[in-house]
Amino acid sequence: MSYLLGLDVSTTATKALLIDEKGKVVAVAATEYNFETPQPLWSEQDPALWWDGAVRSIRAVIRAAGIDAAQIAAVGLTGQMHGLVLLDATGTVLRPAILWNDQRTASQCDEIRMRLGRANLIQLTGNDALTGFTAPKILWVRQYEPAIYQRIRHLLLPKDYLRYRLSGMLAMDKADSAGTLLFDLHKRDWSTEVLASLEIPTAWLPPTFEGPQITGLISADAAQATGLQKGTPIMAGGGDQAAQAVGVGAVQAGIVALTLGTSGVVFGTVDQPVFDQAGRLHAFCHAVPRRWHLMGVMLSAAGSLRWYRDTLAPGATYDALLAPAANIPAGCEGLLFLPYLTGERTPHPDPLARGAFVGLTVRHTLPHMTRAVLEGVGFGLRDSFELMKQIGLSPIQQVRISGGGARSGLWRQILADLLGNELVTVNTDEGAAYGAALLAGVGIGVWSDVDAACAHVLQITGTTKPDPARAAHYNTVYEQYQQLYPALRASFANLATL
Ligand code: XUL
Repeated sequence: MSYLLGLDVSTTATKALLIDEKGKVVAVAATEYNFETPQPLWSEQDPALWWDGAVRSIRAVIRAAGIDAAQIAAVGLTGQMHGLVLLDATGTVLRPAILWNDQRTASQCDEIRMRLGRANLIQLTGNDALTGFTAPKILWVRQYEPAIYQRIRHLLLPKDYLRYRLSGMLAMDKADSAGTLLFDLHKRDWSTEVLASLEIPTAWLPPTFEGPQITGLISADAAQATGLQKGTPIMAGGGDQAAQAVGVGAVQAGIVALTLGTSGVVFGTVDQPVFDQAGRLHAFCHAVPRRWHLMGVMLSAAGSLRWYRDTLAPGATYDALLAPAANIPAGCEGLLFLPYLTGERTPHPDPLARGAFVGLTVRHTLPHMTRAVLEGVGFGLRDSFELMKQIGLSPIQQVRISGGGARSGLWRQILADLLGNELVTVNTDEGAAYGAALLAGVGIGVWSDVDAACAHVLQITGTTKPDPARAAHYNTVYEQYQQLYPALRASFANLATL
């Protein structure tokens, strides 16, 4: 029997997952860490944490599985997207990585739009300049840390830094590359026009590969550090959202992945490089060759519920907190929650957006507020569904829900009602690491392609159907929800100056 290793370098942990050739999860190990916020709106992480986490987790997962490392046939990588990792000529990290949730680059985004023209930028890359993406972070370093900028020779994304440490190879997958804002969505390669306009040397960027393509082999040094066998192939893999979609089988048009993690993601596959002319949705390459995807990202989804629990009901379990909210009527008797606790991306790319409860009266109780949080996150996600419908994503046949928030039956029901779509769960909850392991398997021929891998290993395990009466009521409440951000935007910006 041989095994496949998926390695996920997220913002909170590096996770190693082993599956067998039937797709069964054999063992999982994770090493947790934190990120730094050295200034308001900043978010940084030392890449050494990822490598240390990878070494520990790989060793732990091999031990837990009780297998010989020689039985691991391939490694697939995934991780947090957009993070800027800078290396000098010797491959040494030049400064802490600037992460996807860093919001410092509003003026660099303006500069990018000015240099390229916003419509042209969206036409080339499929995306508007957003603070989360990689390119504005490079411009920020050029402006504020010129001594570091002078020494840059290589740009990588987080999981590709692990790839470099594991194999000595500089390489990226195309799904994650597309999230840099330097990538030509149509050609699936670096955009010479964007790079020239932003004056970023092409030589800094590594070659890019499709998700199941091989990018290198475990080196002797990495073998010694991790316990993996020297020469084990490493596949390109994918950014965490594309790998997550593979991990739940959202690889074909019509199947949407809805991920309810700290952030909330609505992910739809397309067969062409389709994008939103207004740049409200992200348009990236999929980890599946010759496919692309559209994506809406809400920054605080289950993160809103965690903040709410920690702040208003510290110590409560989610089950205890959520149970009374099931008895509150849909729409919370006119109480709405705006989930923009860490600013927002889709559909309001606004780092200064804030959360709010709107419509409180003395009738409202804690369970009303709890339900309002669950519904507010749902309305925010519905915004992304509506955008996808507007730009002609093929009819949604199925929504596959995953992530920590998807474990709540109440939240799943609220989302099914509020989106007016049936939601299904699949037989694995291991997300992006699982998708990365499947991509590794495709790369070495365990499955003929990604479609075949998903069809072989994934089954539907649960279905939540919308209730027509509640769905109709939510349509009315959603109209009210949509009016709140435009009404409050100026106040949010003013509040940020106080
Ligand atoms: C996707 C994104 C986040 C990070 C989090 O565009 O920014 O999902 O990848 O890990």
